[in-house]
Amino acid sequence: MHRVTFSFPTTTLFGAGALEELPRRLDGLRIQRPLVVSDPGLLNTDAFQLLAQTLGLKDQDKSWFLFSGVHANPLEQDVVDAAAAFRANNCDAVIALGGGSPLDVGKAARLLARRPGFKLSTFYDEPNWSGLVPFVAIPTTAGTGSEVGRSSVITLDATRRKGVLFHPELMAKLVILDPELTRGLPPKLTAATGADALTHCVESFTCPVFHPLCDGIALEGIRLVVDALPRAFRDGNDLDARGKMQVAAAMGAVAFQKDLGVVHSMAHPLSTICGLHHGLANALCLVACMRFCTERKPGLYRRVGVACALDVMKCSDAEADQATIGFITQFLAGLGLNTSLREHGVKPDHLDALVAQAVEDPCHKTNAVPVTREDFRGLFLQVL
Ligand SMILES: [Fe+2]
Repeated sequence: MHRVTFSFPTTTLFGAGALEELPRRLDGLRIQRPLVVSDPGLLNTDAFQLLAQTLGLKDQDKSWFLFSGVHANPLEQDVVDAAAAFRANNCDAVIALGGGSPLDVGKAARLLARRPGFKLSTFYDEPNWSGLVPFVAIPTTAGTGSEVGRSSVITLDATRRKGVLFHPELMAKLVILDPELTRGLPPKLTAATGADALTHCVESFTCPVFHPLCDGIALEGIRLVVDALPRAFRDGNDLDARGKMQVAAAMGAVAFQKDLGVVHSMAHPLSTICGLHHGLANALCLVACMRFCTERKPGLYRRVGVACALDVMKCSDAEADQATIGFITQFLAGLGLNTSLREHGVKPDHLDALVAQAVEDPCHKTNAVPVTREDFRGLFLQVL
């Protein structure tokens, strides 16, 4: 048997109203001048107001600062600008509030906080990232799970593609999962971000890397999404469903330290080239990719089906896969996630560039089955 290393992430405060504990926790971490990183859309939300109230009015001893310039698909310039705001205000920590984009920018801003001019494309040339300032992650969506992840996905200046910065030092010191903060998330975004969490669980569970802890977490994550996402979609004020989705999203991201697969390799170029929301891109590709994988590895989705509460333990491999894929198809349709890429502005002209970037994306290297350039072309055509 191979020797493997496991690790387990972050201190997480969970529950409605958990945000109230933030000031006490900041004191415990000796944080006095945090930079809040967010995006322009969040400034008018209840979630931002709650955070602002919780951090309180600025005074001489205690203060907090705001950088709210994060783009929907974050750019290296966002990270540069956030780090400049950090330096200009002599901050001592980063609090990120928002979806995956502010969280990823907040994480990465610490890399540049004390190194103006550093290029993120040379991130992997730097062996030692210890001593980064503390990071507190407060998600307002339930999907990306970036709050418990050790990576940050940023479109790099050097390549104009999404680059994955991966390092344990990027992890948050503290995560606050407060369902009050996701209450205002509109149904469409609730569905799309939730589909990202589902995809993380399905792809990480079926990726062939040895990591039984992640496998268990992924299956429970699927069960939670299946239970809670339709409820959160129908009634945004269902705090039980909102909370379960936050937990499922965090679990999905813990599970995918194992790795991801072909769906994410399709979703990444759909965002960088066509500007699709990441969760939506996953949702629109998931079923076609599941069919593709199961044709080459029958029985792959049996236990995913069990996690979806399907009675598939005793059927044939083909029946188990078919039932599971049928369930996921219906599940996504019930969330309005059964549209084609064309309906979201993707054109046949985009195909070559999408395929080229998908092939180069690292996620499919750990897919359940190998994926060729022609396979990608066929998959994009199916969902176009
Ligand atoms: Fe994702």
